[in-house]
Amino acid sequence: MSKPRLAGKVCLITGAGSGIGQATARLFASEGANVIVADVDDRGARSTVASIRKKDGDAVAEHVDVTDEQETVALANKIAKRFKRIDVLFNNAGISGVGDVLETEPDLFDRVMRVNVRGVYLMSRAVVPHMIKQRSGSIINMSSCIADIGLARRVSYAASKGAVLSMTKSMQVDVAHHGIRVNALLPGTILTPFVERYLKESYKDPEEGFASIRKRQLTRELGRPEDVASAALYLASDESRFVMASGLVVDGGVTGAK
Ligand SMILES: NC(=O)c1ccc[n+]([C@@H]2O[C@H](COP(=O)([O-])OP(=O)(O)OC[C@H]3O[C@@H](n4cnc5c(N)ncnc54)[C@H](O)[C@@H]3O)[C@@H](O)[C@H]2O)c1
Repeated sequence: MSKPRLAGKVCLITGAGSGIGQATARLFASEGANVIVADVDDRGARSTVASIRKKDGDAVAEHVDVTDEQETVALANKIAKRFKRIDVLFNNAGISGVGDVLETEPDLFDRVMRVNVRGVYLMSRAVVPHMIKQRSGSIINMSSCIADIGLARRVSYAASKGAVLSMTKSMQVDVAHHGIRVNALLPGTILTPFVERYLKESYKDPEEGFASIRKRQLTRELGRPEDVASAALYLASDESRFVMASGLVVDGGVTGAK
């Protein structure tokens, strides 16, 4: 039997109580990682951990609000104390924001930027010192294919995911000489509670919304959380050792087919 792809690696995943983060936590654990399932939603985090332990995987649930500096620092220090290292940080936690420039209230704009951008910055700032000490690490930042394409009524969300992609490239330049890699994931539409909520909020008839999103994909199907988890696994593992500052698109052809 081949060696698990993340054998012995300590992997912190934010927003791992639901959707893509949850699928990634399960996949990483099945590949031998020690997974820290961090979320502001404690119930979600505990349920992810329970499903991993059922399959004899290693995972612990931790509370974090990624917008809170003290919480991010406390979490990083706690993990480093317990596991002596942090090999992978997957900055996955994020929220959506629907609206064009006129519909988007300043409060919503600020909230989306706070979670999606400040959250990535703060969690990275808390973890990087530990990665510098061990002279290795892989940071994966959750962007979106919307960073590359225009999509209607997504002013706040698009701004946040574009910022994450730019921050990824800049961070990579700064930390490369410490043996740390920083890459971004750019998923298309993935069927998670996030998208189910969006369909309900944005369309009078969610079925009609679902059909129009399916039409955008070359696959004619939405992606699954596991499709993104597999890409995250590659970026987390040493197989991607030569991959730096990249934006890996996982979108059923939406971007490339334009
Ligand atoms: N689903 C998609 O189509 C899609 C496409 C591209 C990118 N993304 C991105 O992928 C990521 C995960 O999305 P998902 O679809 O799995 O969503 P989801 O809503 O199912 O999961 C997001 C998780 O993040 C957590 N979270 C939210 N705010 C937080 C905070 N301040 N601190 C800690 N945790 C917090 C939530 O509690 C939730 O468990 C997000 O960054 C999202 O923008 C999703």
